[in-house]
Amino acid sequence: MGLKSYLASQSRKPEGFIGKLMGKLMSKINSEMNEKTIQLLGIDEQDYVLEIGFGNGKYIAEIAQKVKGTHVFGLDFSETMVLAATKLNKAFIEQGRVRIAQGDIGEIPYNDMIFDKIFTVNTIYFWPDPNLALRELKRVLKPGGRLVITFRSKAIMAQRASAEYGFSLYTPEAEEVENLLKEVGYSSVSIEHFSNKSIEYYCVVAEY
Ligand SMILES: C[S@@+](CC[C@H](N)C(=O)[O-])C[C@H]1O[C@@H](n2cnc3c(N)ncnc32)[C@H](O)[C@@H]1O
Repeated sequence: MGLKSYLASQSRKPEGFIGKLMGKLMSKINSEMNEKTIQLLGIDEQDYVLEIGFGNGKYIAEIAQKVKGTHVFGLDFSETMVLAATKLNKAFIEQGRVRIAQGDIGEIPYNDMIFDKIFTVNTIYFWPDPNLALRELKRVLKPGGRLVITFRSKAIMAQRASAEYGFSLYTPEAEEVENLLKEVGYSSVSIEHFSNKSIEYYCVVAEY
């Protein structure tokens, strides 16, 4: 495996020592996208919040720290990220405010209609079955709850060398995500577009 394809696979599923470093690096590089997503979620005190694909879990800790009484759950299929996020959130886990689990977005291990807010940042590119993922997210979201999916624009992803190396299974236009969300039953969907000299990305906000 060449270096670029190695880095691409580490972005999809960080593993081992390098994966741990990647998790830390991604939480820094992607801070604007994550902060904007959290802002759009509008998290209230006592909300049940779920993040899928949390990297090192920095933003789970941030929510638990900033919003009183929240219960923040994280699901990620990488064992390395689960270990990193568990370490970072140790105090909140002991207080019963944070729960970290290993699992796949295609099979979310929670009961129906648990969460007030759900978010996922920079994971859509790796979803093998976007329709199934969106149905799973809807199943665990409460009616009237809010989902935010954040991802880089297709144009930006196409410029990335890693795209050639299987980084992306799926690099949708925001409208494609909007249409898919409507197809699986979300009634209200809006697209927020952000662009500055260093980054271009979308936050798709959905409710049902
Ligand atoms: C590119 S990183 C993004 C990390 C963080 N959200 C950020 O924006 O910096 C992708 C993360 O999603 C996780 N992931 C990718 N596909 C997943 C899936 N199908 N189910 C659960 N987690 C997944 C990876 O393990 C990794 O932690």
